[in-house]
Amino acid sequence: MAKQSHTHAQWSSRTAFVLAATGSAVGLGNIWKFPYMVGDSGGAVFVLVYLVCIALIGLPILVSEWLLGRRGQSNPINTMQKLGRDSKLSPDWVLVGIAGVLGSFLILSFYSVVGGWSLNYTWSTLTGDLGQSSGVSVGDYFTTLLGQPGTLLFWHTLFMLVTFGIVAGGVKGGLERAAKWLMPLLIVALVVLIGFGMSTSGFGQAAEFMFSPDWSKLNGGVILAALGHAFFTLSLGMGIMMAYGSYLGQEVDLIKTARTVVILDTVIALGAGMAIFPVVFANGLDPSAGPGLLFVTLPLAFIDMPWGLAFGTIFFALLTVAAVTSAISLLEPVTEFLEERTPLSRVASAFVAALATWALGIAALLAFNVWSGFQPFGFNVFDLLDALTSKLMLPLTGLAAIVFTAWFLDSEGVKQELGLGPKGRVLWHYVSRYVAPIGVVVVFFNSL
Ligand code: TRP
Repeated sequence: MAKQSHTHAQWSSRTAFVLAATGSAVGLGNIWKFPYMVGDSGGAVFVLVYLVCIALIGLPILVSEWLLGRRGQSNPINTMQKLGRDSKLSPDWVLVGIAGVLGSFLILSFYSVVGGWSLNYTWSTLTGDLGQSSGVSVGDYFTTLLGQPGTLLFWHTLFMLVTFGIVAGGVKGGLERAAKWLMPLLIVALVVLIGFGMSTSGFGQAAEFMFSPDWSKLNGGVILAALGHAFFTLSLGMGIMMAYGSYLGQEVDLIKTARTVVILDTVIALGAGMAIFPVVFANGLDPSAGPGLLFVTLPLAFIDMPWGLAFGTIFFALLTVAAVTSAISLLEPVTEFLEERTPLSRVASAFVAALATWALGIAALLAFNVWSGFQPFGFNVFDLLDALTSKLMLPLTGLAAIVFTAWFLDSEGVKQELGLGPKGRVLWHYVSRYVAPIGVVVVFFNSL
């Protein structure tokens, strides 16, 4: 993506855009977070509510964010300022853009800690440390890691440095082209793991857990978690998709493109679940183990497989790449904000943004050890950052984006821009004006 100049640059092709958007969407949210949330929230009930949220709320909001970005032709803050002014509305819509910058910063701080876990696992499967040569059993590896703030800090720092290097060096395009090959490989790796899962005794139970709902588990908390995750996994609500949309040409079909990105993202998340849960049940583990689920279970599969550790290295390396392509999309808004609003250069802005995020990340990683007793509002710092963003900021800013698009922009122009047929117009009208916004509001207030 070229730096914005007087004439705003555009994507070289629709493919380049799809890759960047998918690179941002597909990440730890799909492979690490989704399965553990499914486990925490009672299995299939969560999966079904999540799918409904993706289709009825996530997809229309993704389309709205791209559309706003394409109309504003600038970063989210300027875009909201400009569109608000053009539509003779209050300049306060700019708050949506500002919330996006702040939210990206908060998310990246704990995201980088998990990216660090992924890097650590890439290394320790490569060296064999995870295969018991360190004297720690595979089952205890993760707990031991969490108890070592210095080690966590080392890998968190490394992850942040890589992210910083890419954003500062402006080499995101190269990474996105690489992701074109690596993303399919990640899918292949998941398929191999699902195949392995089929050979275990836990597969049937896993399928039932993920797809056969126990409705007694349904409650407001589960629905809010599913809604928040729909935003998180599609990178919504932080202005990131808006920023990407600002580089889009008029000829791109937003709805079709959104469908592609959403389907890819969802398939990868479901695949991750079907890779992890058979191992959980075959080993008699607890599906609601929380944020460590992926890191505790998959190594058990790797030590049982032929060439398992080598395969584990490949898997965690691919996971790390997916995490980095998402992380750069989180560092970018903060960097751009500093670059535009302060005298700092591009590199200095990226550095300050990365440094601040890194510092907050330290508080997140200490939550697992030294500061585990510090629990404001009943959450440790890591969970607090997650809950504050996914359950509060993302839904509210996403809501603002769709309300603005559906209620305040010229609706005839929007329908034309989306290239909707007669049925599509009716559907868009009801979904964007009523279903999606009311859905967010109801879920939100219901669970408060
Ligand atoms: N969607 C990414 C994932 O699933 C994380 C992410 C990147 C994100 N950019 C975002 C989440 C913006 C919320 C908002 O891993």
